[in-house]
Amino acid sequence: MNKPYAIVKSPNHSTTQLFLGDSLEGMRKHVPPRSIDVVVTSPPYNIGARYSKYRDKLPREAYLAWLGQVCEGVKRVLKDDGSFFLNIGSTPKDPWTPLDVAQQLRNMFILQNIILWVKSIAIPKADVGKSQNIMGDMAVGHYQPIGGNRFLNESHEFIFHFTKTGKVPLDRLGIGVPYQDKSNVGRWKKAGCDLRCRGNSWFIPYQTIWNREKQRPHPTTFPDRLPEMCIRLHGLSKTRMVMDPFLGLGSTALAAMRLGASCIGFDLDPHYLAEARHRLEGYARKP
Ligand SMILES: C[S@@+](CC[C@H](N)C(=O)[O-])C[C@H]1O[C@@H](n2cnc3c(N)ncnc32)[C@H](O)[C@@H]1O
Repeated sequence: MNKPYAIVKSPNHSTTQLFLGDSLEGMRKHVPPRSIDVVVTSPPYNIGARYSKYRDKLPREAYLAWLGQVCEGVKRVLKDDGSFFLNIGSTPKDPWTPLDVAQQLRNMFILQNIILWVKSIAIPKADVGKSQNIMGDMAVGHYQPIGGNRFLNESHEFIFHFTKTGKVPLDRLGIGVPYQDKSNVGRWKKAGCDLRCRGNSWFIPYQTIWNREKQRPHPTTFPDRLPEMCIRLHGLSKTRMVMDPFLGLGSTALAAMRLGASCIGFDLDPHYLAEARHRLEGYARKP
């Protein structure tokens, strides 16, 4: 893996480098120490997902040791005031994976925030009090029915926000939400403008698709709004270089490009990288 698989330049002068191959080796060869501001990534979850170039079912110990090594690599290339957002979910039968992974990284990073990526949610009108924006009972987001009566449907995943110090300042209002009750804007000293912290539950639905093969040819992607929000939270003004060691269809790279940051990413699968390149070039060509 000496040359990039592709380099995509955008009109806003950011550069995205895509590398085909193993991320551990790629980080060692191509990413200088302390050069990355933000890492956003979603590793294989070890749940038997059907990737074409990777067997997603290792013995638990081997999986944790391998991911630990990759995260050591991330630590080496992350700036001392950088942010590492690690998205990971589980299955109803094996809910421990994200918790085991966080535990594996406990002595490597400080867990500065735990964010819940909420993929679907039900909001009964009766529970929202006087809010005028909600007209009736609502159930929004992606819902995939499961059989049996033991387990609840998986409607969230974790995003662990790791840093080296636990003290990295964030741009909380960069992803802030407007106050529902505007009278709070003047009332609270800290409420200087009509935005408050979003908190650590983020509702990010998948876009509805009609043709999986064509529109999302990958078994496990996140919506590009997820890396976008992570980068915004870290702070746009201090984010020059983003990395995703498990790039898939390039959602992190696309978000970085839209926000004017450069990005470097790795994946084992040339088909995923071809699609990532296609998406990035499509964006870069837009008038
Ligand atoms: C959960 S998916 C990431 C999806 C991505 N976030 C997206 O939105 O498209 C994990 C990816 O890791 C890749 N992968 C697995 N092992 C890898 C390795 N050792 N080095 C680089 N990529 C790897 C898989 O091919 C898969 O595309």
